Amino acid sequence: MRVDLKTKIEEGSAIVGIIGLGYVGLPLMRAFNAAGFRVIGFDVDQGKIDALHRGENYLKHLGTDYVKQMVASGRFDATADFTRLGEPDAVISCVPTPLGPHLEPDLSYVERTADDIAKTLRKGQLVCLESTTYPRTTREIMLPRFEARGLKCGVDYYVAYSPEREDPGRKDLNTQTIPKLVGGIDAVSGELALALYRKAIKQVIPVSSAEVAEAAKLLENIYRAVNIALVNEMKVVLQAMGIDVWEVIAAASTKPFGFQAFYPGPGLGGHCIPIDPFYLTWKAREVGHTTRFIELAGEVNRSMPEYVVQRTTLALNDRSKSVKGSKILILGLAYKPDVDDVRESPSFELIEKLEHLGAEVDYHDPHVPATHKMRHHDLQMKSIELSPAALKQYDCILIATHHAAYDWQMVADHSVLIVDTRNALKNVKGKRDHIVQA
Ligand SMILES: NC(=O)c1ccc[n+]([C@@H]2O[C@H](COP(=O)([O-])OP(=O)(O)OC[C@H]3O[C@@H](n4cnc5c(N)ncnc54)[C@H](O)[C@@H]3O)[C@@H](O)[C@H]2O)c1
Repeated sequence: MRVDLKTKIEEGSAIVGIIGLGYVGLPLMRAFNAAGFRVIGFDVDQGKIDALHRGENYLKHLGTDYVKQMVASGRFDATADFTRLGEPDAVISCVPTPLGPHLEPDLSYVERTADDIAKTLRKGQLVCLESTTYPRTTREIMLPRFEARGLKCGVDYYVAYSPEREDPGRKDLNTQTIPKLVGGIDAVSGELALALYRKAIKQVIPVSSAEVAEAAKLLENIYRAVNIALVNEMKVVLQAMGIDVWEVIAAASTKPFGFQAFYPGPGLGGHCIPIDPFYLTWKAREVGHTTRFIELAGEVNRSMPEYVVQRTTLALNDRSKSVKGSKILILGLAYKPDVDDVRESPSFELIEKLEHLGAEVDYHDPHVPATHKMRHHDLQMKSIELSPAALKQYDCILIATHHAAYDWQMVADHSVLIVDTRNALKNVKGKRDHIVQA
């Protein structure tokens, strides 16, 4: 079996199935397709499947032709029929791993996918998990479901974990060029997963187990969460002292070793950094430990929207205005620049908090024309038209996301008061006394 699969991978005749065609799964499917493999995408969202068959790309940041090329290759299929999961030789799962209401891991998507794969698992298949999760998920959640089929892992079929490091919107690196870790449940699984990924991805780094790969991904994201919390704390202290935190970070960055710049903001957003660290927090309890750094970082980062609202309140107060009755425009709904991804975006919390205080809030985002229903929010808002005349109508402009498309000079020239959480206005010319950092 192992020889057959290895040969198919080397020859490029292996069929690669990708489950979960979102920010991670779609680019991965394309990478394998570009490497010459026949690919089959699986998703529960029939709308996405239909769009793919029409050659349409629903992830705007990837460009309009992104899917067309894959469909034109003749080596592409997409389906919501999970009984077809026996067709691929390698099945890679990229389903969501969110948190539940009490910050506990919600592995229901991973479990359901493992159950779906188990139903058609056959000899010679390789299964890889890419979803971010706590160490031992692949072994404790996926494997038992497969073992129930009576086949033996490492002999009849193979299981590995390979974390995704996708950074949507990034221009210098992509799925093919971001180095990738791979760890198997056993040595044979690890070797086959390595062979497969090496066909599509430039640099694949083997590690000794699935657990090392799972933990490495969490370390990467915890490192970011903790360091962002640190600069957010610095920001609060330095702003109270009247010192520009952004200039301080730029100054510290001149040190050629031992310092890496992280930047403050209105709070954490996205599907990864606010969520993944708590997967380890939860699992750590099982081995009798608490993750104090992670929880402290979470506490600091989660307090940022409230801090920004306080700074906005004080800025209005300085101009003899209350939040109640003020017209406030939020610039940027996406959680980071130049993407349309609004998952966990702090802008939603800012809007809700300001509205709760009685403000009339609008938003503008060049990438998000309207809000849609999400797990925790349903704002039912539309992006306003941004113009000098529109800016003048607001008592305060609150910059939450520094999209490159914004003309910051125009924003600075036509606004009465601006609260800037991203140092977006650093290069604007002319008067600055209407700009407040937060
Ligand atoms: N977005 C990122 O930048 C990023 C980066 C690194 C790691 N990750 C991790 O990758 C995983 C996927 O994240 P994403 O951002 O691609 O999520 P996403 O929400 O963009 O995509 C997930 C896809 O899975 C589909 N899906 C849900 N349940 C399914 C099921 N049972 N069977 C098949 N498909 C199903 C959804 O319809 C959706 O298309 C998560 O674990 C995430 O933490 C994401």
